[in-house]
Amino acid sequence: MNVFKKIWLRVFMFVFYKFTYLMKWRTPELIEGNGSLTKLPEKVKELGLDDVFVVADKGILGLGLVDPLFDALKKAGLRYTLFDKVEPNPKIVDIEEGVKLYKESNSKCIITMGGGSAMDTAKAIGARIVRPNKSIEQLGGLLKVGKKIPPLFAIPTTAGTGSETTIASVVTNSETHHKYAINDLHLVPEYAVMDPLLTKGLPPYVTATTGMDALTHAVEGYLTCDVPKKYKALAEEAIVAIINNVEKVFKNGADLEARKEMLYASFKAGAVFTRVGLTYVHPIAHTLGGLYGVPHGHANAVVLPYCLEYYGKKCHKKLAHLGDLAGLTKEGQNIDEKAQAFIDEVWRLDKDMNLLKKFDIKEEDIPQMIKWAQHEANSAYFVPVLLGDKDLENIIREIKA
Ligand SMILES: NC(=O)c1ccc[n+]([C@@H]2O[C@H](COP(=O)([O-])OP(=O)(O)OC[C@H]3O[C@@H](n4cnc5c(N)ncnc54)[C@H](O)[C@@H]3O)[C@@H](O)[C@H]2O)c1
Ligand SMILES: [Fe+2]
Repeated sequence: MNVFKKIWLRVFMFVFYKFTYLMKWRTPELIEGNGSLTKLPEKVKELGLDDVFVVADKGILGLGLVDPLFDALKKAGLRYTLFDKVEPNPKIVDIEEGVKLYKESNSKCIITMGGGSAMDTAKAIGARIVRPNKSIEQLGGLLKVGKKIPPLFAIPTTAGTGSETTIASVVTNSETHHKYAINDLHLVPEYAVMDPLLTKGLPPYVTATTGMDALTHAVEGYLTCDVPKKYKALAEEAIVAIINNVEKVFKNGADLEARKEMLYASFKAGAVFTRVGLTYVHPIAHTLGGLYGVPHGHANAVVLPYCLEYYGKKCHKKLAHLGDLAGLTKEGQNIDEKAQAFIDEVWRLDKDMNLLKKFDIKEEDIPQMIKWAQHEANSAYFVPVLLGDKDLENIIREIKA
């Protein structure tokens, strides 16, 4: 990257992140506790809303996870319409179908239940409802929605994306395979239901990948260049909680206390990254999701340690501190050794949860992956180290089979 571009990006990010201090950040109100899912319909009713649009994926519908919500909606006398065309790495074509059904059903608010894919599908539908003349493509990027979306209630059933508190909806164009985010303050749900019971049946693979997604949010956010104190503390809490609990829930999904820790850590990690941005891990991971359908958390789990190694000494002080907080360091170690202890823990978690792998990346896709990843990082993130195209190529080659 030439020196003028570097200076321009640094100045732009500095000014942009100062501007973020003026923005109206909010988090959703929480409905909390085991079984709290069934309290939501009464809350919807209290708010004077009816005609609910429920967005959930077929996986959790098949498991019967959404049934208690349907029962509670009926009990509260609320009419609802179900939209279940939700896929991992949500596609724009499906979102458009959802927009059509929302309008046909005269719905007035949205309840979304599931992982990031369901929550992001719902957010994108909401954005298109209030911006009927703008395509999803035009809404992509920063602050393009600019209008209150229909009241949105989110019920996360994975502990990973934090989408229940973020400004993002991540979507994929099924023709170009470009995966990108719509980011707007109006996409933060009004309410989030934090019910650990819902995550109890998550299979070990989804538990591991989504848990590593949350860890990636917190670590990447923490490493960015302008992190307000409050968010530093939230990131530290999330990171320590995930390191202490992700393997527990991977090995024993029924450990409800650990499930609760993970659900709240994921929420905190979401609050952090949505406020301060990310680094290069997510931009690279998004290309793997868009082009090859790699589950989001798995892509992050693999890319994270490579990036942490690549960023080098500039991040060591922060990583060493995380190592100390998580109890991974020994007395007498210097900063570089402590930072390495933290990175080694990420490698170890990946290995022990069977996530280490190389991806079948096509040689001809690499230039496009670099372009998309650079575009995402350079347009939104105050990264700790500016990487050039060659650096991104090096990282991509490390994860290529
Ligand atoms: N909006 C954001 O802020 C944000 C942040 C990170 C990631 N994302 C996006 O979220 C998507 C990934 O979401 P995800 O990782 O939560 O996975 P997901 O929503 O794609 O779900 C993965 C699988 O887990 C199943 N599942 C979900 N909950 C379950 C449960 N409780 N029990 C059993 N099975 C269950 C689903 O049916 C699905 O098959 C990606 O598209 C990613 O880019 C969004
Ligand atoms: Fe993520």
